[in-house]
Amino acid sequence: MSGYIIRGGIPLSGSVTISGAKNAASAIIPATIMTDEPCRIENVPDVADIAVYLNILRRMGAEVRDAGGGAYEIDCSGVTTHTATSDDMRKLRASYYLIGALLSRFGRADVAMPGGCNFGAPRQIDQHIKGLTALGASISIKNGVLTATTDGRLHGASIFIDGIPSVGATANIMLAAVTASGTTIIENAAREPHIVDLVTFLGLMGADIHGAGTDVIRIHGVDKLHGGTHAIIPDQIEAGTYIAAAVGTGGRVEIKNVIPKHLECISGKLREMGASIFESSDTSVIADGSGRFRNIDVTAMPYPGFPTDMQPQAAVLLCLADGTSTVTDNVFATRFQYIDELVKMGASIKVTGRTAIINGVQSLTGAPLKAGDLRACAALVIAGLCARGTTELEGVRYIERGYVDVVGKLRALGADITSVGAPALSDMAI
Ligand code: EPZ
Repeated sequence: MSGYIIRGGIPLSGSVTISGAKNAASAIIPATIMTDEPCRIENVPDVADIAVYLNILRRMGAEVRDAGGGAYEIDCSGVTTHTATSDDMRKLRASYYLIGALLSRFGRADVAMPGGCNFGAPRQIDQHIKGLTALGASISIKNGVLTATTDGRLHGASIFIDGIPSVGATANIMLAAVTASGTTIIENAAREPHIVDLVTFLGLMGADIHGAGTDVIRIHGVDKLHGGTHAIIPDQIEAGTYIAAAVGTGGRVEIKNVIPKHLECISGKLREMGASIFESSDTSVIADGSGRFRNIDVTAMPYPGFPTDMQPQAAVLLCLADGTSTVTDNVFATRFQYIDELVKMGASIKVTGRTAIINGVQSLTGAPLKAGDLRACAALVIAGLCARGTTELEGVRYIERGYVDVVGKLRALGADITSVGAPALSDMAI
């Protein structure tokens, strides 16, 4: 068996330091390709998805130097290709950011179609294509490769993102628009913290962007971007995951290196369940729980709503609530593959449409489980920590895509979790 062995029932205690945000780094690292000047990116999370992305840049001719302590010196002056079609590209959902970045630098992009977590339904990129086309790109998809070309320079446009304010589409359109001629207005834009972090980085590269964090972003194109130094923001979802683990096990944990404002959408809901979560400094919160919860209704929505990336973790806690709760995901309608695994632990859950109906039980019991995506894996780790008995969890390569040293951090909080046979970060097949 390759994965984690978790012996549950131990209340977590102590403090944990949160790493850089995977989903911010996933956009900022490809953005470095847009300048031929060196960039220094700090607080880069040591997770598989980012390791893969750094290797993709190296393969394209970039010089990527590990400067230690989570910092990387990236010099893309040696990148002369607009093609990125290696298998690595198919391991990441965020590989699509190279479309906007390469269009901006070279006026052309040949990029393998993205991969990423499978939530049981297609993860479209039609809004990316809509936005990039509005900016003047011609886009075709053949043999698994998306080709974007432009005669001359992209031009500004007014773009309305249909339906859910797509994080990926908002970021990709911005990457292409920052060096387009004229002004681009993105309406129904995503407001997530990692969108704001990307805009902060683009701004220090010389981009002229206004409205980040609101649903209307205005971009005035500039001729050239320059290098710069930027520290990635702390990971809101990693922090939320440790808060859930702390309160689910009935423990008390200080979560350090966070931006409390980014956690309000998570803390508010967990407080409603009965957890005690409060700021212990400008950059830390304390999570204190009893392991039992009030039954509530949770709806995952775009920021500043409750994040879909915390939906599975919330469902685990509600399995231990008194009464019936619901978890609805308005972002990914079918992000419930983890439910079958929780039922193996004694949970009582029924999924209808985009809603899971959860009848709380007295306790979960350890079981052999298999994770199918990143946040499902995080949720099943929490379930194992909260359960009575031992859980053997397979599919842990998923959690190692997005969480830095999860076994080490949990063991430091007193968890009885052991990694057996799990692949090292470097040789991981995502
Ligand atoms: C990003 O995915 C994140 N991934 C996801 O995190 C996160 O769950 C998601 O945003 C929502 O916050 C990265 O940043 C690498 P979307 P993305 O475009 O960009 C639909 C994790 O666990 N849509 O905001 O793919 C889409 O189907 C991962 O860290 C279109 O219809 O999400 C979904 O229903 C999982 N057309 C909704 O919008 C499009 O062109 C939101 O998708 C794009 C999206």
